[in-house]
Amino acid sequence: MRILVTGAAGFVGSHLCEHLLAEGHEVVGLDGFIESYPRAIKERNLAGMGSHPRFTFHELDLRTDRLEPSLEGVEAVVNEAAMAGLSRSWSEMELYTGCNLLAVRRLVDACRAQGVRRFLQISTSSVYGVEAAGDESILTRPVSPYGVTKLAAEHLVLAYVDAFGFPAAILRYFSIYGPRQRPDMAYHIFIEALRAGRPITVYGDGRQSRSNTFVTDCVRGTVQALGGAETGEVYNIGGGEVITLAEAIEITADALGVRPVVRHEPARPGDQRHTRADTTKARLAFGYRPAVSPREGLRVQVDWHLSGGTRAGAELRPPTPSRRPSPSTTGS
Ligand SMILES: NC(=O)c1ccc[n+]([C@@H]2O[C@H](COP(=O)([O-])OP(=O)(O)OC[C@H]3O[C@@H](n4cnc5c(N)ncnc54)[C@H](O)[C@@H]3O)[C@@H](O)[C@H]2O)c1
Repeated sequence: MRILVTGAAGFVGSHLCEHLLAEGHEVVGLDGFIESYPRAIKERNLAGMGSHPRFTFHELDLRTDRLEPSLEGVEAVVNEAAMAGLSRSWSEMELYTGCNLLAVRRLVDACRAQGVRRFLQISTSSVYGVEAAGDESILTRPVSPYGVTKLAAEHLVLAYVDAFGFPAAILRYFSIYGPRQRPDMAYHIFIEALRAGRPITVYGDGRQSRSNTFVTDCVRGTVQALGGAETGEVYNIGGGEVITLAEAIEITADALGVRPVVRHEPARPGDQRHTRADTTKARLAFGYRPAVSPREGLRVQVDWHLSGGTRAGAELRPPTPSRRPSPSTTGS
C-alpha cells in the first residue's frame, strides 16, 4: 500500500515511517520542519530512511503549500503532523490553530479530491482534560489551548465523515516515550538533567500518574488501526501500566546509576493530573495490546540518550515484553 505520513520528521512519525517500510509498504513522508524544536533533530530522525527505495519525502507546510503532488497514488494517510506540547500553546495560539486545525482542513480536502480510502487523524489524551482516566466516552474538557485545537480537529474530521462519508477514524495517543522523544517532553528533560548532574524540576507533587505509551506500542497500534479502525470511531492508544512521575524518575536514575535531586514547583496551567487509558475498544476492533512496561521502555530510552541519539531506528529493537498489561489499566 502507498501511505502518506505527515509529521514524518517528528518523534512518532519517523518511527511510523520506518515500521511501514519494514512491513513492505511504499511510504511518502511529509513534514514542514515547523519551529517546534531544532530542524537538525528532525533531519536526524529521517536520516535512516533517506536512501530507502520505497521512501519519498516532501518538505511541505500543510497550512499553505499545494498538497496534491504528495498525494499521488496514495491510498491511506496518517496525520501525525501537529504543534504538540501544551506549555507554548498558551502564548502561540495562532501557530497551534494553524497547524492543528486549519492544516487538517486543507489536508482532508486534498485527500477527498484524491480519493484517499483511509485516513487516521492522530489526537491526544489532552482532549479529556485534567483527568484522562477511562474509555473514549468520558467527558472531553481540555484544559490547554493545545487540547482545544486537537479536539476541534477531531470534530472537524468527524464532520467530514458525517457530511461526505470521508473514511476517517481518530486515535487518541496517551503520552508517548522512547528513542527520539521530543526535547520538550518530561522524560527527555529528566534523563538529560540526570546525565549532567543537574536537579530535576517537577511541576506538582510528583504523584501525578500517566498511562505512558512506549513508541513501538503506539506505532503498532496505529498500523493495526489502518486495517481495522471503523470509519467515524475514536480509539484510545495508551500504555498498559500506570506509573507516577516520581516512580519514572526513580527508574531512570536507577538505569543511569545516579541519585536524583528533585525540586518541586507548582503545577502549570493545563497540566494533566492522572491519565489511565482504557484501550478495550482498540483491542476489540483491531487487536491493540500495549506490550512494553515503563521499566523496560524507560531503559531503552536511557540507552538511546547514552548513545547520543544514534541507536534509534531500524536497528533498535523493541524490548521483549516481560509482563502482561494490568487489567485495571487496559479494561476488560
Ligand atoms: N508525543 C506524545 O506524547 C503525544 C501524545 C499525544 C498525542 N500526540 C500527537 O501525536 C502526533 C505526533 O507527535 P510527536 O510527539 O511526534 O510530535 P513532533 O513535534 O515530534 O512531530 C510533529 C511533526 O509535525 C510537523 N508539522 C507540524 N505542523 C506542520 C505543518 N503545518 N505542516 C507540515 N508539518 C507540520 C512538525 O515539523 C513535526 O516534525 C501529534 O499529532 C501529537 O499531537 C503526541
